[in-house]
Amino acid sequence: MTNTNRCILLASRPEGMPDEGNFELVEEGVPEPADGELLIQTIYLSVDPYMRGRMTGVRTYISPFDTGKVLTGGVVGKVVVSRNPNFEKGEMVTGNLPWADYSLSDGKYLRKLDPEAAPVSTALGIAGMPGLTAYFGLLDIGKPQPGETVVISGAAGAVGTVAGQIAKLYGCRVIGIAGSEKKTSYLQQELGFDAVINYRTENMKEAVKQHCPDGVDIYFDNVGGPISDMVMKRINYKARIILCGQISQYNLKQPEQGPRLQGQLIQRSALMQGFIVSDYADRHAEGIKQLGQWLKDGKLQYRENVVNGLENAPQAFIGLFHGENLGKQLVKVADEQ
Ligand SMILES: NC(=O)c1ccc[n+]([C@@H]2O[C@H](COP(=O)([O-])OP(=O)(O)OC[C@H]3O[C@@H](n4cnc5c(N)ncnc54)[C@H](OP(=O)(O)O)[C@@H]3O)[C@@H](O)[C@H]2O)c1
Repeated sequence: MTNTNRCILLASRPEGMPDEGNFELVEEGVPEPADGELLIQTIYLSVDPYMRGRMTGVRTYISPFDTGKVLTGGVVGKVVVSRNPNFEKGEMVTGNLPWADYSLSDGKYLRKLDPEAAPVSTALGIAGMPGLTAYFGLLDIGKPQPGETVVISGAAGAVGTVAGQIAKLYGCRVIGIAGSEKKTSYLQQELGFDAVINYRTENMKEAVKQHCPDGVDIYFDNVGGPISDMVMKRINYKARIILCGQISQYNLKQPEQGPRLQGQLIQRSALMQGFIVSDYADRHAEGIKQLGQWLKDGKLQYRENVVNGLENAPQAFIGLFHGENLGKQLVKVADEQ
């Protein structure tokens, strides 16, 4: 263990697309755990689109990041010193922790991981927050029925890949929308999606019409903007529109004026519902258990896009907005062993 702790701060608030100048890497001493605390070494760090909202300085469902302060996010780490009777040195844990080599915790909001059950990195992806988002969004709001047509935008990402696979498990016809040939091939050939649309190269209006001849029963929306406008034109009677994310809008300097959808929702008696995965906090254990079981049974597959080095976390985060990741984007900060 070194004496230096590298940390990544939010140096300035991004205006439009974030760039590396919005971040700063600083070095400080490794903190000493007090009585009841743990020292955790970061092994994997998660970069997530929602963090962009926290960088704006506006309070939403979650408090904003402060400039000049260390960023925090999903982390998988190893207990290297324990002064808390509930944790032992060497245990693997996950929680919301600083973007740093080392951090302190009182253990309250940490979840212990069993490295034998699944690779620990999955706690930040398919068996963690993104997986839970797909699980509760699709099943609780979407209520998929066999034979229904489910369209998923942002389909090749951390949430989208899980939502699509669960929809397949429920007997739905699944159409995935993503931004590259590599992504659409993965969705169709490896995950078994019934059809795919590359929104960068295809005419969205024609493609949705072609691949959803019977209309859209469930739309799991991760991106918003013009992609969603085209899907919304094809929604069926009693369709369910799951508003999970609007990544196409996160870096806009001026909000877009989209179509006003209320009339369409009335005409089709459709439901459009937003949600935050934390709405289901009291059911997370249920979701983790089910996702873990499906993984174990080989019913779910996953991909991770791993960037090495804490210093590359800003670049990995920025890459989310350029579609650089297939599956869950992670940063590997240290070796597990
Ligand atoms: N409601 C919740 O509680 C909750 C929880 C987690 C995540 N989310 C939301 O769910 C969405 C997906 O999150 P994730 O963690 O799974 O991220 P992700 O899909 O793994 O990564 C982001 C992907 O978004 C796509 N993208 C980026 N900019 C885009 C644009 N302008 N237009 C269309 N697509 C764009 C890119 O894929 P392409 O190459 O296909 O463009 C990129 O790879 C995000 O909107 C996120 O904010 C919501």
